[in-house]
Amino acid sequence: MSRTAIVAGNWKMNLDRAKARELTAAIAARRGEAAAVELVLCPPALYAETVGTALAAAKSDVALGGQNMHDKASGAFTGEVAPPMLVDLGCRYVILGHSERRTLFGETDAIVNAKTKAALAAGLTPIVCVGETLEEREGNRTEAVVTTQVNGSLAGLSPADVEKIVIAYEPVWAIGTGKVATPQQAQEVHALIRRLLAELSSPAVAAKVRLQYGGSVKPDNAADLAAQPDIDGALVGGASLKADDFLGIAKAFA
Ligand code: 13P
Repeated sequence: MSRTAIVAGNWKMNLDRAKARELTAAIAARRGEAAAVELVLCPPALYAETVGTALAAAKSDVALGGQNMHDKASGAFTGEVAPPMLVDLGCRYVILGHSERRTLFGETDAIVNAKTKAALAAGLTPIVCVGETLEEREGNRTEAVVTTQVNGSLAGLSPADVEKIVIAYEPVWAIGTGKVATPQQAQEVHALIRRLLAELSSPAVAAKVRLQYGGSVKPDNAADLAAQPDIDGALVGGASLKADDFLGIAKAFA
């Protein structure tokens, strides 16, 4: 199996410009510690240019990503960010359908689907997030919820498009809580997602798609997650704000 691991930092609504520059430089300087792993930094959109400039100054191959975007390329959408704007700033990735977008900002699978198609059309690689709440897990509805989210978010994608995307499984109960899914719990859902992708495209395409786990990933739990056959990387929140922690996690996937 030859999937290149991918570890992305979702900075969420944190840091300021000086700190964003500092963190980027620190990660770029030590990038060689996890040379085999693809790294992506997803700063707040307003700081994407700052981070992109710092990466370019360091001649770094660390990629830049957005945390969200609108599905239209331009227009009267006050306060929104268009896909070509992210591309213009050098973004190659965009996180879509993060649970915070789904629960706090009302994003449905249909919206995530429109955004996923728009990202692909703009040449961005979407990192599509799915995951169940604690109530859903305790009600034995994890499989049903994740199935609905994957099928809804990726509806109508061609096999060629499915092959390009990244999926992040982020159980909502593990995000920012310090409660990480056990490697077995995560692997089980990752295997389910790969089966769903095979149904949407083909087993050969599904075998190429990278699946990240997200939710309280730290340097000390990353290796056990990385050892699972269907976990190809991590989408990291809190720990991505410290170069040591982010690189420590990346190294576990090397
Ligand atoms: P934490 O790593 O802070 O739990 O956040 C995970 C997350 O939401 C990444 O997108």
